[in-house]
Amino acid sequence: MKDNFELIAKTFFGFEDILANELKNLGAQNITTGNRMVSFYGDKGFIYKANLCLRTAVKILKPIMKFKASNNIELYDHVKGFDWRKIIGIDKTFSIESVVHGKFFNHSLFVSQKTKDAIVDRIREDTGSRPSVDLKYPDIKINIHIDNNKVTISMDSSGKSLHHRGYRTSTNVAPINEVLAAGLLLHSEWNGQSDFLDPLCGSGTIVIEAAMIARNIPANIYRKEFAFEKWNDWDESLFKVIEESLINKIKSIKIKIIGSDKSTSAVVKAKQNVINAKLNDYIKIKKDDFLYTKKEGDDELFILTNPPYGHRLEGDINKFYSKIGDTLKNFYINTNFWIISSNFEAIKKNRFKSFK
Ligand SMILES: C[S@@+](CC[C@H](N)C(=O)[O-])C[C@H]1O[C@@H](n2cnc3c(N)ncnc32)[C@H](O)[C@@H]1O
Repeated sequence: MKDNFELIAKTFFGFEDILANELKNLGAQNITTGNRMVSFYGDKGFIYKANLCLRTAVKILKPIMKFKASNNIELYDHVKGFDWRKIIGIDKTFSIESVVHGKFFNHSLFVSQKTKDAIVDRIREDTGSRPSVDLKYPDIKINIHIDNNKVTISMDSSGKSLHHRGYRTSTNVAPINEVLAAGLLLHSEWNGQSDFLDPLCGSGTIVIEAAMIARNIPANIYRKEFAFEKWNDWDESLFKVIEESLINKIKSIKIKIIGSDKSTSAVVKAKQNVINAKLNDYIKIKKDDFLYTKKEGDDELFILTNPPYGHRLEGDINKFYSKIGDTLKNFYINTNFWIISSNFEAIKKNRFKSFK
């Protein structure tokens, strides 16, 4: 407990409660939801665990400075007042990402520039040398969040957004973001207790995320790297212990998980992604036009799918949704059906229940 510090997990709008619940299940302390973020307390090991496990976080930040500033000079002075050698060695590269809201700062690039100047000036004064900036592949990523005059400077422990799980090497048209897919599955209370189908599976993201939830596979177990591996306090043996204990909690499942799509190229890509996720013993991918299928057997089935958006459909979206509705009504009894769409009109017209 005494080694716990504040951490911030960022997410998409609307997913704050789902993320807070994931954090509670992982054992985070003092969880508070905000706008597109959840703050919590944990120790160094918890940073590793959160990055490996959280399905609905896009980033985990570790705040290192909080102060008030209402102009660039105050911002520069505060940032320069911090001992940056603790964080950025002169052999390391770094980058800065800024998000600014409110009346005092309105130019995120300028804020990044000012902060970079303050960090470089401070390290040069302390050591006589300076670290380099690398915008593409930095060793250390610094994140600045300014809300009016409240400034929070954090270390980004994740690096690339956590939707880069590591399994998706092939994508078809309009693939769904992995974090969005996982969040919608958790929202729908998918728990791996029935058979599962995505009948418009594209590159297979939804079936892969559904199988990972059902088998309790950590969301980012196949990811190649996290930013915290470049931190001064990186503890590889602690990471390995945590990773090993999570792998030991993966379950085997007996349910059928199926992805199908009418496009041959989507089927090829989905199959490759399923292999990348090491789920080929648990997910079957096949070619089918959903409108000409019927459910196999009487067992309960769970469908979650995202159809093409309006402009990607050759015909009328209302007609397409209505055909999906007819197929479900006539040939898919005992089925729990969830559809992801940006087209509320088409959903309402076809009497699907909707939520935002
Ligand atoms: C928006 S994409 C799905 C993206 C997918 N969730 C992913 O992550 O890649 C919609 C998919 O629906 C498929 N599709 C469209 N009409 C279909 C139909 N009648 N039967 C089966 N698949 C269909 C398209 O081939 C496309 O792959």
